[in-house]
Amino acid sequence: MPSPDHTARTHRITLIPGDGIGPEVTDAVVAILEAAGRPEACTFDWHLHNAGADAFAKTGEYIPKALYDSLEQTSVGLKGPVTTPIGGGFASINVTLRKKFDLFSNFRPIKNLPGLETRYPNIDLIIVRENTEDLYAGIEYMAAPGVAQSIKVITEKGSTRIAKFAFDYARKHSRKRIHAIHKANIMKLTDGLFLDCARKVAQSFPEVEYKEHIVDNTCMQLVLNPYQYDVILTENLYGDILSDLCSAFVGGLGLVPGANLGTACAVFEAVHGSAPDIAGKDLANPTALLQSAILMLHHIDEPATAARVQGALERVYTEGKTLTRDVGGKSGTRAFTEAVLAAL
Ligand code: NAI
Repeated sequence: MPSPDHTARTHRITLIPGDGIGPEVTDAVVAILEAAGRPEACTFDWHLHNAGADAFAKTGEYIPKALYDSLEQTSVGLKGPVTTPIGGGFASINVTLRKKFDLFSNFRPIKNLPGLETRYPNIDLIIVRENTEDLYAGIEYMAAPGVAQSIKVITEKGSTRIAKFAFDYARKHSRKRIHAIHKANIMKLTDGLFLDCARKVAQSFPEVEYKEHIVDNTCMQLVLNPYQYDVILTENLYGDILSDLCSAFVGGLGLVPGANLGTACAVFEAVHGSAPDIAGKDLANPTALLQSAILMLHHIDEPATAARVQGALERVYTEGKTLTRDVGGKSGTRAFTEAVLAAL
């Protein structure tokens, strides 16, 4: 990592490259941020720590203590995706970090990039996903031979604070409508509690229209007419699934950013996973992590640098000559990154 230039504002950031396409997209984003911040605006003091299988091989820990310590010190992380083994193996690094640092709000804006033709134009919707509870609480066991059980945890505290986050956001950014997405017809207690909390919070925000949709219907409604949604407020599992669905409106998982926000710490990461099918082939689109980094720049109060990166990204998409294959281009990760750097 280049050493920081201490003449400008220096931000300490914990950098977690992840695995699969993680290192490729984090390298791209770090290069772009370094160029965008320099020389006068801001610099970054990257604290590099990894997690997952690679970290275990090196340190004997899936999430090394040094990573926890670093996030406690910096309180801001930029994270690539980490592979989670299916049907066994270690617990999800992402879920563990979100719980450990109480990153209760997963904020995911879904918006078209200029110049990129997608299935739906002019999409501008926000997914606010509760990030610490639900079936992701990780309480699973074999109740008897051949009977596996998983406990869904929904609390009044967790539901109220995520609803409050969504309504506060809507008020601050003049968003008109919030849909709470649920399955309270079946899960009457858990999703019922989630809705009760959302309804109570909604009463303090009369200027924001409040609606409720059942999650299966929501999937159909989204595909038929995504424009009816403005802010989607939902639980952990539904939010995970709806995010991938909505990413397809604007060009796919290579584009959609995310922020895991708590009161004392924030970790910025793309919606996508480690994409093992394209890892190491110079095929990954770094846009989703770059847009996550733009959210991070706003979070650390660097709006001018955020605007510079956004402007360069939009120029590359508007020109449309150096796009990655997932969005119909012919370029690789490195050529795309060079194009953004040139646009800066
Ligand atoms: P995935 O998001 O990694 O990939 C789904 C599809 O989207 C693949 O075809 C992939 O090539 C494509 N894709 C994803 N990101 C892309 C990018 N930046 N550029 C171009 N194409 C891209 O989802 P999948 O395959 O279900 O999961 C793979 C692994 O990632 C699993 O171990 C999963 O647990 C983990 N994962 C990690 C996350 C995180 O660290 N935050 C989030 C989601 C999944």
